[in-house]
Amino acid sequence: MTVRVSPRLEAMPRYEPGLTTAEVLARYGLSAAIRLASNESPFPPLPGVEAVLRNGLAGLNRYPDGPAAALRRALAERHGARPEQVVVGNGSCELILLAGQALLDPGATVVHAEPSFALYPHLAAASGAEAIAVPLAADDGHDLDAMAAAVDERTRLLVVCNPNNPTGVYRSAAEMERLVASLPEDLPVLVDEAYHDFVDCPDRSRVMSLARERPNLLVTRTFSKAHGLCGLRVGYAVGGEDLVAALDKVRQPFNTNALGQSAALESLGHTAELERRVRSIIQQRDAMADSLAERGRAFTTSRANFILVSSGTGPTADGSSVHEQLLRQGVIVRDGRALGCSGRLRVSIGTPEENAAFLAALDRVLEPEL
Ligand SMILES: Cc1ncc(COP(=O)(O)O)c(C=O)c1O
Repeated sequence: MTVRVSPRLEAMPRYEPGLTTAEVLARYGLSAAIRLASNESPFPPLPGVEAVLRNGLAGLNRYPDGPAAALRRALAERHGARPEQVVVGNGSCELILLAGQALLDPGATVVHAEPSFALYPHLAAASGAEAIAVPLAADDGHDLDAMAAAVDERTRLLVVCNPNNPTGVYRSAAEMERLVASLPEDLPVLVDEAYHDFVDCPDRSRVMSLARERPNLLVTRTFSKAHGLCGLRVGYAVGGEDLVAALDKVRQPFNTNALGQSAALESLGHTAELERRVRSIIQQRDAMADSLAERGRAFTTSRANFILVSSGTGPTADGSSVHEQLLRQGVIVRDGRALGCSGRLRVSIGTPEENAAFLAALDRVLEPEL
């Protein structure tokens, strides 16, 4: 007998996380592999975080601070916002899902781009709303005009991923401001800035400034990427007080854990070292782009900590995919096929040695494209 679950689950896409390092080692009989598949930081947590975590262990018999008040205050101060404009989540993924829960109902629509972050289709599927997935523009970035045109009276949420995952394309503050100005003032707009730290453009903080002023705007950020804390799951959103209150209402009372809260708070105090690490990742990303260009290999210019690279048009000589060939050589990148980008690979920026190992493996697998 089959147990009956909600029919909404039928529409829900399954998140395919890709192979773990242990799975790759076992499958291909390898003793080591490099992992450039999940847009993680190649650096360990910032100095001071380890000690804070060790100190926090003794208090784990107590529930964490439910509203994450200290972290909320620190984030509010960092962004020149009021604490009532900040909500902390179990990763920014949780806040994105909570936005869906708080804002969407059957009959509503949610507008997002495609291909974009794999979580967005869940928002409609989980709430019974309809997803309006707007194809990316020719440059692999959001087609903001088409997204604005897709909004109608049923639309209850519009999501922009900036820079976009999996393409890395950044839309400027001027383009984003124009989009927001063109939308109804009561339409909630969520701007997912998970990769904000890697945007080397002077206008990169302007959407956050706008979120302090516009009641319908919510910007999500995360400690998972530049701060290297994805294992602890801490993200946050800053924006209109009513939107923040709505997310606060639907979150579980103790949604972020005590260690994550204190690690994030500590991490915030190490700006100089964070900036040094971010600069080094940007430098590595640009060096990777130069190396790909030298090889005549097509890629999308990225402002994030990953690059989407062409894997050519067909299978390799023995019929396996380029992705699979790289796995066999112990190089784990993300197959674009799983991300709506067939014929491409999403490669996270790692250490200089890891990036060089990826390029060397790619050279062994592929002929030059020129
Ligand atoms: C665009 C985007 N948003 C949000 C996230 C989620 O980050 P987290 O839940 O770890 O904060 C990711 C993770 O890869 C992402 O790519």
